[in-house]
Amino acid sequence: MEKTLFNNQIQNMSNYIMFEIKAKQIELTPMLKEKNRSPIALSMGAPVDPVPQFVINKTIEYLNIDSLHTYSTPKGELKFLNAVSKRMKDRFGVDIDPKSEVFSLIGSKEGIANLIKAIVNPTEIEEDKDIILTPNPGYASYSSMLKVAGAKSFGIELSEKNNYMPDLNLELEKLKNQGLNEKKIKALIINYPNNPLGCTCDLEYLQHCVDFCNKLGIILISDNAYCEMYYDKNYKPHSIFECKNAKDCAIELYSFSKSYAMTGWRLGFACGNSTIITMLAREKGTIDTGVFKVLQYAGADLLESREGQEYINAQNEKFKNKIQKFVNGLVSLGYDVKMPKTTFYLWVRIPDRFADSVDFCNQLLEKSGIVVVPGTAFSSNAKRYIRMSVVASDADLAEVIRRMKEDGFSYNE
Ligand SMILES: Cc1ncc(COP(=O)(O)O)c(C=O)c1O
Repeated sequence: MEKTLFNNQIQNMSNYIMFEIKAKQIELTPMLKEKNRSPIALSMGAPVDPVPQFVINKTIEYLNIDSLHTYSTPKGELKFLNAVSKRMKDRFGVDIDPKSEVFSLIGSKEGIANLIKAIVNPTEIEEDKDIILTPNPGYASYSSMLKVAGAKSFGIELSEKNNYMPDLNLELEKLKNQGLNEKKIKALIINYPNNPLGCTCDLEYLQHCVDFCNKLGIILISDNAYCEMYYDKNYKPHSIFECKNAKDCAIELYSFSKSYAMTGWRLGFACGNSTIITMLAREKGTIDTGVFKVLQYAGADLLESREGQEYINAQNEKFKNKIQKFVNGLVSLGYDVKMPKTTFYLWVRIPDRFADSVDFCNQLLEKSGIVVVPGTAFSSNAKRYIRMSVVASDADLAEVIRRMKEDGFSYNE
């Protein structure tokens, strides 16, 4: 078929990196098994633990109610919207109107992609493209979503030097110095806790983001998918709506995928500025008919339940021990890596003897069956870094350290 029949951005885009890595893992599995190196995946940001029993029981209960099998609406069922509003009050102390300031999502990834489409005026002409400020390094999907939408991404540099909280006014100067048009900026995406860095920020910095967006008259998209994954009470993540005037510019997205290990359920929500919510509703109204009502009902109960909070607490304790042990293992191999404050990600510098992060990842997979992601999936500057997602069992993580040592992947060989 003629290639030009398709959207230019889509036909020129490579497949999503996580699916590419998975395909390679599957292809190599027979060879790896033969040499006693069955794959251990530290690639996807997907917890492998069972979901809360509570949500399974509730789902079974609601599956038996006939009226819950019909179309929902993109916005969501009132029971779900009310539960979100109550959760936002209980967890962050913020007031969110369930009727005008909440929206159900088929996972937060879908929400971000549709939000971007609702914001951007697509064009192929480079200088006319809308600009969205994105974290760099950042979640691999942001840049592809922007490409598909016909927008340009400008990376806001997150580094240890700026404590992962860059001064946005200085970043704006950088943008202007590169000859880009400030007037084309439509939105800022922030992601604290951050994938892939595992870092977070304080409330004062969130206020800086709000003030910056209000000053520029742009939208603030706060991707809070990891807000329940923290290992130190001093770094308990915040909601953007704890900041003054945040509702003037911000929308925040949440996910059930990480905190409740419910990746396959595709359940999330957005809340915030009612105009942004209305535009998201228009966009999504042309595409989907919302989340299966049964999932919304069970999810609503989970958000409000003691069992849900206990699950989150237990998971954080478990991840804290698991990650700390794995970090100790990597340190014993000579890697310079620290316990992250939040998330289950480690951002690890690779030894100099490897050509780059893709080379390191390929060798680690082909020799040792260990699947990790090259830093370049998150930033074109991250050629010397990889991301490890510490989601495997304790036994598998111990095996990773053993194989790395045995197969020549210590930092100083
Ligand atoms: C930063 C970030 N945002 C959003 C998502 C999407 O999560 P989901 O669509 O499962 O809610 C992910 C998943 O890895 C992520 O890392």
